[in-house]
Amino acid sequence: MNTSKTGLAMWLAGFVILSIVSNASGAQGSSGKSSEGSQNALDNAAARLGPYFDKAASKNVTALLGKTAYLNCRVKNLGNKTMTPLQVSWVRHRDIHLLTVGRYTYTSDQRFRAIHQAQTDDWTLQIKYPQHRDSGIYECQVSTTPHMSHFVHLNVVEPTTEIVGGPDLYINRGSTINLTCIVWYSPEPPAYIFWNHNNAIINYDSPRGGVSVVTDKGDSTRIFLLVQQAKPSDSGQYTCNPSNAQSKSVMVHVLNGEYPAAMQHGGQAKQPRLYSLLLCLCLLLY
Ligand SMILES: *[C@@H]1O[C@H](CO)[C@@H](O)[C@H](O)[C@H]1NC(C)=O
Ligand SMILES: *[C@@H]1O[C@H](CO)[C@@H](O)[C@H](O)[C@H]1NC(C)=O
Ligand SMILES: *[C@@H]1O[C@H](CO)[C@@H](O)[C@H](O)[C@H]1NC(C)=O
Repeated sequence: MNTSKTGLAMWLAGFVILSIVSNASGAQGSSGKSSEGSQNALDNAAARLGPYFDKAASKNVTALLGKTAYLNCRVKNLGNKTMTPLQVSWVRHRDIHLLTVGRYTYTSDQRFRAIHQAQTDDWTLQIKYPQHRDSGIYECQVSTTPHMSHFVHLNVVEPTTEIVGGPDLYINRGSTINLTCIVWYSPEPPAYIFWNHNNAIINYDSPRGGVSVVTDKGDSTRIFLLVQQAKPSDSGQYTCNPSNAQSKSVMVHVLNGEYPAAMQHGGQAKQPRLYSLLLCLCLLLY
């Protein structure tokens, strides 16, 4: 890195920061003005006048914790070398930290890198090992006067497991226990999932019979554990263990007919505690 290049980068950095400050003190960015209907007309006009953002190619990003993320900013009509060079910069909004200027990575945080291929309109911010605290707004800025901004939201997520209706489920004796385990934000469906009942792995061919699993793979993976003809001995802790996400547990209480028949329609009983409370109140009234 020679000194004149560093000097230019620092000058640009100053320019960008000044622009942010002037923007914060009132002036709206050029991005916020247009209404939906006239967007195309505006885009065409902008194309003749100067640079504009290709927003469809500069979208919000959901990144997986620890897995390299790429924030893209596509700027059309940036101009060519015979004109005053315009720069595209990335700024982190949380602390107004300048990350990149053109192809130059300005921050000392080595996880960030500017990527730009010559002859393309894409100015990409690479973030290695993204953490939850990296979530937030990143501003892609073009050094026009006044400057132009496009905001990209980064959301850093990790695979999470949920059991629907937990942490306690009340099931009537004789009905089917239907536990739904959902694995969110898994980059690919879990290779395998096993269920535990009171810490023992559930064997679907066990002598008990009537136990099965249905897996539904989509944006999130849903795993249903079905236990037919629930018995009191089926009560206890059930744990869903996906191969690539945290495990999750629920307590299943198989009700042994100790509650009034009126509530025993359908499979899953709701709120027996409330029911006992009502019973107590009734007893008190007598
Ligand atoms: C990006 O995410 C933010 C916050 O969730 C939202 O307000 C904005 O509309 C999103 N932009 C696009 C282009 O989806
Ligand atoms: C580059 O900019 C000059 C000056 O504005 C213009 O005359 C020329 O047509 C431009 N070339 C291209 C390829 O856009
Ligand atoms: C189990 O419950 C889910 C909803 O959580 C439902 O979509 C599914 O059809 C149920 N399966 C059976 C066999 O009842």
